[in-house]
Amino acid sequence: MSDLVGQARAAMRHAWAPYSNFHVGAAIEANDGKVYVGCNVESASYGLTICAERMALGAAVVGGARKLKRIVVTTEVDPPAAPCGACRQLLAEFGMDLEVIAVGPATERRWTLAALLPDAFTKESLDR
Ligand code: THU
Repeated sequence: MSDLVGQARAAMRHAWAPYSNFHVGAAIEANDGKVYVGCNVESASYGLTICAERMALGAAVVGGARKLKRIVVTTEVDPPAAPCGACRQLLAEFGMDLEVIAVGPATERRWTLAALLPDAFTKESLDR
């Protein structure tokens, strides 16, 4: 786990956040142990901003990962910030049992994705 925190913090150092100055890093550990990282990338056209979690998820998917074990999200605030709603929804594609760990400079918080996104809209919701 501490290694994942280190990798998320290393990714956070590459965050492009000149507008919010809020730096976020993410590290996803897939079931096979491979790790994929992301950082937030902002745009002068603010709405185009991409969160660190979705960057890491994209990297995991393009790397071939389909089963995910945990995601560590690092910020510079305590209590540590939880993933935004859009990121929760996209992470839900790959299973509600994902462990989500938010880490600040001094404290951490843990959930399952199911706890962060109750009554989620998932692929099962599309069944008719
Ligand atoms: N941000 C993330 O990277 N992840 C989240 O879950 C919430 C917000 C980023 C987006 C933006 O660059 C900055 O944090 C402030 O919202």
